[in-house]
Amino acid sequence: MLRSSMLAAARSRGVRRLVEANPLTGKVVERFVVGTGAEDAVRAVRRLGADDRLVTLDHLGEDTSDTEQAATTVRAYRHLLRLLGEEGLADRAEVSVKLSAVGQFLPADGEKVALDGARRICEAAAAAGTTVTLDMEDHTTTDSTLGILRDLRVDFPWVGAVLQAYLHRTEQDCRDLAGEGSRVRLCKGAYAEPASVAFQRKEDVDRSYVRCLKVLMDGAGYPMVATHDPRMVALAAELAARAGRRPDDHEYQMLYGIRDAEQRRLAAEGSRMRVYVAYGEEWYGYFMRRLAERPANLGFFLRSLVSS
Ligand code: FDA
Repeated sequence: MLRSSMLAAARSRGVRRLVEANPLTGKVVERFVVGTGAEDAVRAVRRLGADDRLVTLDHLGEDTSDTEQAATTVRAYRHLLRLLGEEGLADRAEVSVKLSAVGQFLPADGEKVALDGARRICEAAAAAGTTVTLDMEDHTTTDSTLGILRDLRVDFPWVGAVLQAYLHRTEQDCRDLAGEGSRVRLCKGAYAEPASVAFQRKEDVDRSYVRCLKVLMDGAGYPMVATHDPRMVALAAELAARAGRRPDDHEYQMLYGIRDAEQRRLAAEGSRMRVYVAYGEEWYGYFMRRLAERPANLGFFLRSLVSS
């Protein structure tokens, strides 16, 4: 109930105005977002790299209904990727892209605009020497996103995608994407989805996560285990060992600001650990999904509003 209200608020302009207008919100947002500019993102890559954490960078923004805004986002990613190359950080950081931020929802030719924009981001990533992963948004975009992934992989076979275990379809999508060279980031899923397409009970989502993880670990691709759940992290290690995997052929991923000590522990034990780092001005939707995921995050937010 709380989760679905928060996720509805994530898409409400009215609530957005209220949250953004609160002078104390910024302090809390800082816990999840590293700053507004590419330089802030690069600093975060260095900081996290000090204890062997890798990074994927998300230039915040989503649901663009404006062609110029989509083009601005593409330019921002290309600028960031150029910086990463120049600073010698391309082996430590890649980028994550939401296709709705580069035009997927535009009424005229949205998919084509998003494909062209994503292609230009991939060209910049190839020039810098790093990779791109496509984030996954709500279920109405899954087919379109996987279609764009297929097109991109013709020229850029290293492009990765996110799959969400809460969707009924995902176990099959994992089978389809478990082949040689494919990179799949498996998460549980962060949007409010109807029972017709998604498991509603946490236990069912968790069971689906385990089934999907098994498919990916037994496959020939590169699984990216995106969860903060200690049980899933332990199970991933077990499944990887059982499948004969080495530490460098799969990785763990967590969001910036969440389970920092566990991130450092995994990196210190020699696992590949990547942190999803968001930066930019458009933090609202991202921030609200983080609050919706966990009552403790919401409590932290409310407490800081009253105690600061
Ligand atoms: P879940 O919320 O099920 O919690 C399970 C347990 O994990 C908790 O009981 C607790 O022990 C621990 N835990 C969770 N959050 C914690 C916290 N804040 N502090 C301490 N412990 C905590 N979603 C999506 O729809 N599309 C996408 O593209 C992405 N991309 C993405 C990338 C990466 C790298 C990550 C880590 C996540 C995403 N997500 C996402 C978000 C994802 O779908 C999901 O909403 C969150 O990761 C929360 O689910 P968990 O599996 O982490 O644990």
